[in-house]
Amino acid sequence: MQSFDVVVIGAGAAGMMCAAEAGKRGRRVLILDHAAAPGEKIRISGGGRCNFTNLHAAPANFVSANPHFCISALRRYTQRDFIALVERHGIAFHEKTLGQLFCDGPSRQIIDLLLAEMAQVGVELCLPTKVEAVERNADGFALRLAGAAPDSGPVQCRSLVVATGGRSIPKMGATGFGYDLAARFGLAVTETRPALVPLTFDPATLERLKPLAGIAVDAVVGCGKARFAEAMLFTHRGLSGPSILQISSYWREGREIEVAMLPGTDVFALLRAAKAENGRRALHTVLGTVLPKRLAQAVAAAEGAEGNLADLSDKALRRVDAAVNGWRVLPAGSEGYRTAEVTLGGVDTAGLDSRTMEAKAVPGLYFIGEVVDVTGWLGGYNFQWAWSSGWCAGQAA
Ligand code: FDA
Repeated sequence: MQSFDVVVIGAGAAGMMCAAEAGKRGRRVLILDHAAAPGEKIRISGGGRCNFTNLHAAPANFVSANPHFCISALRRYTQRDFIALVERHGIAFHEKTLGQLFCDGPSRQIIDLLLAEMAQVGVELCLPTKVEAVERNADGFALRLAGAAPDSGPVQCRSLVVATGGRSIPKMGATGFGYDLAARFGLAVTETRPALVPLTFDPATLERLKPLAGIAVDAVVGCGKARFAEAMLFTHRGLSGPSILQISSYWREGREIEVAMLPGTDVFALLRAAKAENGRRALHTVLGTVLPKRLAQAVAAAEGAEGNLADLSDKALRRVDAAVNGWRVLPAGSEGYRTAEVTLGGVDTAGLDSRTMEAKAVPGLYFIGEVVDVTGWLGGYNFQWAWSSGWCAGQAA
């Protein structure tokens, strides 16, 4: 039986960061993954340019049953620490918008960075390897592996780090492995659901809104107290775009979302002024100067206001204002894990030490990255959580 100080299951963002850090401390580390290549989600992230962190990352950008849990890890390993690492590896990057940092070149550079960090300290990477069984014993944990396992035999380790990510994109090998393992060791797992995901409409709403597919607006989208000012896109299934992906982490079935399609513009005042200036213009013509034309026509038609401005009362103009900047719509669901960027919920943070990510009731067992009930907003926050939580576990495992 081969013996390691640390075995990390999952060679994704969090797992590789943890393995490299534990290796730097002189630990003998094995990292394995059932996929044939490491960091597949990093590779496809950020449209192939990896939005690897966010300049403004702070605890407020994360959703969790315990919003305080992420504070310690985000403080101990910050976005500035990861940016310094990226710079040390000579990777060029730029800020796209809202503090989001992307590689100038392909995402592969971030995978290579992590592989180099691991290789430098002798971390053993074993792919593709399946974990068939995990047992706890007096010396830590015994793992039965299948595939390219070291010597194809069982493996013993003092510390076991679970970095198997969430359920999103099952086509890429996402599994519920981490949640099942947590449950087997008596840890609670909060409800999991797709997040950062497009929202869908019921057939009747879809029929009405389908002609708008392809139209994008800079919107403010809200649900409850959450609000996001980013682009919104009408699709042939429902709504997408950054503002919708963001709100999907807060939306629940049966709740409406509220959309302002011309935020910051007093549409009533604008229409009234236009009417005073030249009442012979059609509503959709005037709206079409500030909104995409197809959308302007749809709003006018939906409000039964297809005539000239002169024919529309103030009451009618106020209705149009509400339709543009107070549009309330009830999504039927989401596109699910097939397209979700992340999984909301996961291993309950109440059972984890926020400094080390170690399970309080199972010494030597660690959970890091997306498998934990900490979910970032869209914009590089999820990778920052992977780096921060992975780094913390790497100092302790
Ligand atoms: P990750 O999913 O990266 O790694 C888990 C690893 O565990 C995988 O390699 C998997 O194969 C392995 N595994 C799973 N089950 C296993 C098992 N049973 N046995 C062995 N191995 C197993 N975030 C961000 O901040 N910026 C961005 O630009 C993007 N872009 C983006 C695009 C797309 C299309 C998606 C789907 C997601 C993003 N994200 C993102 C989210 C980001 O990719 C995600 O939050 C992190 O990859 C999570 O890192 P982890 O290491 O926790 O899991």
